[in-house]
Amino acid sequence: MNPHSKSESVRQKVRQGYGQIAQSGGSCCGPTPTCCGSTPAASDELAKHIGYSAEELAALPDGANMGLSCGNPNALAALQPGEVVLDLGSGGGFDVFIAGRKVGPAGRAIGVDMTPEMLAKARKNITAYRERSGLNNVEFRLGEIEHLPVADASVDAIISNCVINLSPDKAQVWRDMARVLKPGGRVAVSDLALLKPLPPAIAEMVEALIGCVAGAVLVSDTERMARDAGFINVVLTPKSGYVDGMADWKDPVYQKIIAHLPPGAKPSDYITSLEVTARKPALVAADSTSLFTPAVKELVAIGAAVAVNCEPCLKHHYREAQRHGVSKTEMASAVKMAAEVKDSPHQAILRLADKLTGASLSDPAAASDPCCGDKARTDKSGDACCGTQGATGCCG
Ligand SMILES: C[S@@+](CC[C@H](N)C(=O)[O-])C[C@H]1O[C@@H](n2cnc3c(N)ncnc32)[C@H](O)[C@@H]1O
Repeated sequence: MNPHSKSESVRQKVRQGYGQIAQSGGSCCGPTPTCCGSTPAASDELAKHIGYSAEELAALPDGANMGLSCGNPNALAALQPGEVVLDLGSGGGFDVFIAGRKVGPAGRAIGVDMTPEMLAKARKNITAYRERSGLNNVEFRLGEIEHLPVADASVDAIISNCVINLSPDKAQVWRDMARVLKPGGRVAVSDLALLKPLPPAIAEMVEALIGCVAGAVLVSDTERMARDAGFINVVLTPKSGYVDGMADWKDPVYQKIIAHLPPGAKPSDYITSLEVTARKPALVAADSTSLFTPAVKELVAIGAAVAVNCEPCLKHHYREAQRHGVSKTEMASAVKMAAEVKDSPHQAILRLADKLTGASLSDPAAASDPCCGDKARTDKSGDACCGTQGATGCCG
């Protein structure tokens, strides 16, 4: 199967699985709270266990908490009144309704989910939310988290609860998160992640995929994808408590997963609940009104390292730039610019040599350089000066 068909097949299975869970009210698998659903009482128990308050739960529309969560991204995000918050894989609307109260009348909470049955369930709950909270600030959009139906740079905070593990293209999810966040915007994700690769029998189990286990990736892979997408301040905190409880769950899916572990192994040897926080770099440093942010400084340093042929400098500033969330594409632009500037005097002298001797050594494509190239073409004397800097600037 080619990679695209494989991705689509995973997506189809996940959509079908969660469509059934939505229609069965979130209790497809058994009486205990799990990522594939539970009874209302057990869902409340799970939510309290992962840090939601009794008041938050009591204020929710009926059925919004389907027991599908594995952490508390709402608490992690520390939402402020007036903010726009986006929930990836919003299910029955659990975190969206909680976030809506936190961002208040001047803010907005948007949920995105690809399963129409989940969306219908969440939308049905909007009326109850409005009546109870007096707020008209939540909405649910049908869509995939890899291609969010959300405008560029329009969101202050992204939350997500036990969803990214289900995506067939997690790197693309991280890239699209970076696209929709405002500069300086933040991510607060709870998910399941792997501490080591799963036994193949579990990795191939469809129920384990729907149950948020088989699609999970290593903690280190999550960190890499977040950084590659340009995020900075990436902090990953494994939380073992959630998975430690799995062994006691009566849920048949989890019992089947446990049965396929090597003798003596327990789920928490392989799987952990993971909190991830990260930030999209701000255009301007938070403590300054200057555009000269640490990221921009590193881009300048990379250019300078290339211009002066300093290999250790380039290696050092490449690492620093990565640390500050600069993407490889941005670094490549800085390198290209530096290479053009560096080559400019060389091209200018070749053009002069061509003119004086009739040789054809200069590169016509390089003649458009705004500093040396233009001067060489317009100077009546034909004496291109680049490379022998004059008193008033590059070309004297
Ligand atoms: C485990 S449930 C979590 C629901 C919700 N976050 C909660 O805590 O109650 C996963 C949800 O993510 C949605 N989902 C999974 N993969 C998705 C994708 N690639 N794009 C959009 N939604 C997705 C499913 O339809 C489902 O509603």
